[in-house]
Order: sequence, then structure tokens, then C-alpha cells
Amino acid sequence: MKINGKTSIYAVIGHPISHTLSPAIHNAAFAKVNLNAAYVAFDVLPANLWKAVEGFKSLGVKGFNVTTPHKLSIISFLDRLDSIAERISAVNTVKNVNGELQGYNTDGEGVLGVFQHENIPLKGSKIVIIGAGGAAKAISHALASEAGELVILNRTEKRAIQLAESLSKYYSSLIKSKQFTRRTVSEELSNAQVLINATSVGAHPNTDESVVDKECITEKLTVLDIVYNPLKTRLLRDAESKGAKTLNGLSMLVHQAIKSFKIWTGIEIEPSIMFQAVEKELEQIL
Ligand code: ATR
Repeated sequence: MKINGKTSIYAVIGHPISHTLSPAIHNAAFAKVNLNAAYVAFDVLPANLWKAVEGFKSLGVKGFNVTTPHKLSIISFLDRLDSIAERISAVNTVKNVNGELQGYNTDGEGVLGVFQHENIPLKGSKIVIIGAGGAAKAISHALASEAGELVILNRTEKRAIQLAESLSKYYSSLIKSKQFTRRTVSEELSNAQVLINATSVGAHPNTDESVVDKECITEKLTVLDIVYNPLKTRLLRDAESKGAKTLNGLSMLVHQAIKSFKIWTGIEIEPSIMFQAVEKELEQIL
């Protein structure tokens, strides 16, 4: 990559941020399509968020991703939100259009992209999502219009109820919420087609943990785990051994990045470009 006086800058902000895979993903994409652009990571403390955003505007940074803990707090510094970002009150992508900052959320669309890419139909299916945090919110809003039935299971039942209530305002599919227990998971999975783990359970260092007992998984299920460290979580290993279709967290990461890249550049990048870059990066850091 050649950096010169015309190079456009893109970024990701978060805290902490040093573990991010986004620079590898987006720089590979810029190189592939021959765009004179570079993508860097900035560790931004919550108290400095507004200064960072003002700085980006002054410097003409073309776009940036936003990750924990700024996905909600960034909103007050933006000029405009797209409808999904507004519904879920979270932004992961910002586009700078001549000084006007536009906020988007591509996390949920990324999950839709994974299913489309793998040719797995979602229309009318029963989808069980475990978790009710930021990731679950983005994913459930993207899938609710496709699902025939959507079930939110969460350890803290109140959060599951709140998420289901907010979904019901926008989507006409059957939306249920329950407390997450081994029993409720087992009951809900018996006639489901899709299971999504939207919690951090199974992530390093607790790689032997899974949100679901292996006995509940059938070969009729497609299982997506948002965790990508490790790539093959205990949940995905169990699902694979039961003959279920599995999708890992890296695919979600790549597909949300594809959507962000499209928002910034108008270009739809081939997933394989980003996958190769991120796999190479992971080999070096994991
Ligand atoms: P994120 O924005 O990444 O989704 P979050 O808002 O902290 O992060 O949400 C994490 C989700 O994982 C929550 O749904 C959390 O359940 P609670 O709402 O009860 O906290 C869920 N979670 C985390 N650890 C869990 C565990 N050991 N078992 C079950 N659920 C867990």
C-alpha cells in the first residue's frame, strides 16, 4: 500500500482496541480494489469521544467503525442515523459526507449476509437467539422480519422481555422471550431451524463452555456463534458432531465489514478477500 498526499483515512475507534481485526480486513479490501485509502485503529477513552469525533471531522477522516464501549454514546455526536441504527440505538459505522456524519449499524445486516452467502433460507423459520445485549439486539432486528418465529432467551429475563417488546413494535412475526435455562433452550430448540449464540460464552479462555447441551442440537439446525476466538467454539464443535450446519463468528465479522465497506465506497467486496486477510492476521495473533 502506498501512502501519499491523497490517501483517504478510515478508522475504528474503541477501548480497548489493540485486538481488532478490522484494519487487516479493510486494508486488504482497499488494496484489492486499488483505492488510495488506509484504515487504522484508535484507542479512544469514553471521556475523549467527542474530541475524537471533532478531530475526525477536522481531519476529513472519510469513515470509521465504532466498537465497544462507544456504540451508543457516539449517537449524540452524529448528524443523521439510518433507520436500523435508530431502532437499535447503536452505531458501528459512520460515514463522513462533507462534514455531515451519518450513522449506520451493519452488525445485523452482516448476519443476514452470512445466511445469504451460505444459501441458508431464513424466511418463515424458527430462530432462537441466546443473549439480549448489543449483539443480540442488532442480530434480532435484522432477522425479525425474516423469521416466522423469533425466540430471545437471556440469563437476565428482564432484558429478554425488553428486547422482545421493542422488536414487537416493528415486526409482525411471532416474537417470544424467556429466561435462558438449560430447560428453556432444550424446549425451544426441539422445533427450531436456527440457533444463534449472541453471548460471549465459549470465548477464550473459557473454551470448554457452551450455552447449549450437545443433546439439544439436531442435524436440522443451523448454528451461528458470534464468538470467533476460538474459531471453532465448543458449541460449533458439538453442532458439527451432531451433523448441524455451523457458521462461525468470523463470517459475521467479515459480512458486517462488507456492508461497512459498501457504505463508504459503494463497492461490494468479495467475502474471500476479507476472509483471507483476517485468517492470515489470526494465524499471527492467536
Ligand atoms: P454485547 O454488547 O457484546 O452483546 P453485553 O451487552 O454485555 O455484550 O451482553 C452480553 C450478553 O451475554 C448478555 O445477554 C448476557 O446475559 P445477561 O443479560 O444476563 O448479562 C449474556 N451472557 C454473558 N455471560 C453469560 C453466561 N455465562 N451465561 C449466559 N449468558 C451470558
